Amino acid sequence: MEKREQLYEGKAKKVFLTDDPDLLIVSYKDDATAFDGQKKGTIVGKGAINNRMTNHIFRLLEKKGVPTHLVEELNDRETLVKKVEIVPLEVIIRNFSAGSFAKKLGMEEGIKLACPTLEFSYKNDDLHDPFINSYYALALNLATQEEIDAITKYAFTVNQVMREYFAGLGIELIDFKIEFGRYHGQIILADEVSPDTCRLWDKETHEKLDKDRFRRDLGNVEDAYQEVFRRLGIQ
Ligand code: TMP
Ligand code: ASP
Repeated sequence: MEKREQLYEGKAKKVFLTDDPDLLIVSYKDDATAFDGQKKGTIVGKGAINNRMTNHIFRLLEKKGVPTHLVEELNDRETLVKKVEIVPLEVIIRNFSAGSFAKKLGMEEGIKLACPTLEFSYKNDDLHDPFINSYYALALNLATQEEIDAITKYAFTVNQVMREYFAGLGIELIDFKIEFGRYHGQIILADEVSPDTCRLWDKETHEKLDKDRFRRDLGNVEDAYQEVFRRLGIQ
C-alpha cells in the first residue's frame, strides 16, 4: 500500500490518500483540543495510544457484529481504513450523568441513568455541533431513516459490548461519542474510540481516566491515557 498526499488534517488526526481509491491512512496526532479548538495542547503519547486502542476495540466490535472501517494497523500511529463518507452526526451514548448532560439537567455527575440514552449532534464546528434529534437529521438530509435506524442499533450494541469489556478492566463507561460512515451503501463505524471520545472512570475510585483531565486541567493527563492503555493489555 502506497501512502499518497494528505487529504485532510483534523484536530486529532491526519488523513492520507493511498493508491487504492477505497482506502485511506489515518495518522493519529498527540495534539489535543477542547471547546471547539479554543483550548489547545499536547498529550504526549496520545496518538499511539488512541490508534492502538481504537483498533483493539474495533476488532472486538467486528466480532460482535458491528462493521467498522478498520483494515490494518500499519504502525504505532497509522492505520489503513476504508474510505467512508462521514455521516455528519456525532452519536453520543450515556450510561451515567456527566458533562453537558449533567449541566443541562442540573444533575451531579456520576448518577446512573435508568437506561442508556442516545443523542445526536450535528457535526458542524461553526455551529458548535448543536444538539439535534432524528427528525432534524431527516429534515436536513443528514441521513435517511434506514441509516438512522442502523446507526441507532449499532450504537447501542457498541455501548453494550464496550461497557462489559471496560467493566472487566475495572473501568466504568460513563458516556462516549462515535461517528459512522457510508461505505458502498452500508453504514459502518468510523473515526475512533479512545480516552478522547469516551468518559472512563475507575470503577472503585471514580478517578477520571480520560480527556476530561485535559479539558478541566485536572493534571496527570498522560498518566490517565497510559493507565487505560495498560489495562487493555496490548503493549
Ligand atoms: P458532553 O457531555 O460534553 O456532551 O460529551 C459527551 C461525550 O462525547 C464524552 O464522552 C466526550 C465526547 N465528546 C467528543 O468525543 N467530542 C466532542 O467534541 C465532545 C463535545 C464530546
Ligand atoms: N475535540 C473537541 C474540540 O476540540 C471537543 C472535546 O473533545 O471536548 O472542540
